[in-house]
Amino acid sequence: MRHLISAAEISHDEAVHILDTAESMAATQGRSIKKLPTLRGQTVVNLFFEDSTRTRISFEAAAKRLSADVINFSAKGSSVSKGESLKDTALTLQAMGIDGVVIRHHDSGAPHRLAHAGWINVPVLNAGDGTHQHPTQALLDAFTLRRQLHAAAGTVADDAGPASEGTDLDGAHVAIVGDVLHSRVARSNIQLLHTLGARVSVVSPPTLLPVGMESWPCEVSYDLDAVLAEGPDAVMMLRVQRERMGGGEAGSRGSFFPSPHEYHRRYGLDEARLARLLAHTPRAVVMHPGPMNRGLEISSSAADSPRSTIVQQVANGVAVRMAVLYLLLAGDEGIS
Ligand code: CP
Repeated sequence: MRHLISAAEISHDEAVHILDTAESMAATQGRSIKKLPTLRGQTVVNLFFEDSTRTRISFEAAAKRLSADVINFSAKGSSVSKGESLKDTALTLQAMGIDGVVIRHHDSGAPHRLAHAGWINVPVLNAGDGTHQHPTQALLDAFTLRRQLHAAAGTVADDAGPASEGTDLDGAHVAIVGDVLHSRVARSNIQLLHTLGARVSVVSPPTLLPVGMESWPCEVSYDLDAVLAEGPDAVMMLRVQRERMGGGEAGSRGSFFPSPHEYHRRYGLDEARLARLLAHTPRAVVMHPGPMNRGLEISSSAADSPRSTIVQQVANGVAVRMAVLYLLLAGDEGIS
């Protein structure tokens, strides 16, 4: 694998190799020498056409901890605002001599185009494109979940690791809840979790489900309480993406079902729902990719509960992004 564009392109063995490499990276972060010389002399460009906090900063931290030079490019304040195309932006970066590009773009497919149009000849890492894919989010979620399952099984003392390597998520049950229609996180996670052997239940209002879900490797439900009663190992809450719903205000296009208050009542994870889940499955964890709408898809009591992995997901993002940068940029082998 020369690029990382979609979770659908990651095989089972590649995924396990990335997660195991991320464990090695995480182990270095707990020691006094955090910085590795692996990418010294290489330049990574963070090309962000859409806002980000976690992904942009963690890719920057990951590249710097591998000793790469990092150039941060934000569309705001660049010649993109004068109408410069993705092609000309790419040709400009290529001319300056770069070794890898991390791209977030509002258009689904932009990272694929950048990787395969022949404008640049370096690895491209998708940091989120439109409603399409966010593969490193899925990898860090799988990494977090795998650690949690190891911890519950007693194969790791705590989150600081090291966890035992080489195992996957075979048999784990993950509920992905909320605005699937607009979620690249959901698409990436459904594919990667399936690849790793997990059972995935998607829970959403009918109006926030994409068409054609019958062919996706997951079960679909409209009833959150019924799925929680099955005792999933993890509940991954999705952000309601009001900015992608058109017209600004939630519900203005009729796609937001049926009101924020009603959404929270039927699909929000609150204290009572979490208590019922934990009574059934004490090891269950609460996940959210961030940023959160507290009080909408998740209550503060659930987001901040001891069973929440939300902060760990952010921390693990650095190790996972170190792993993919290392595997794609540090040698001829790529991810395999
Ligand atoms: N989870 C995630 O992609 O967050 P950011 O938009 O802050 O990068």
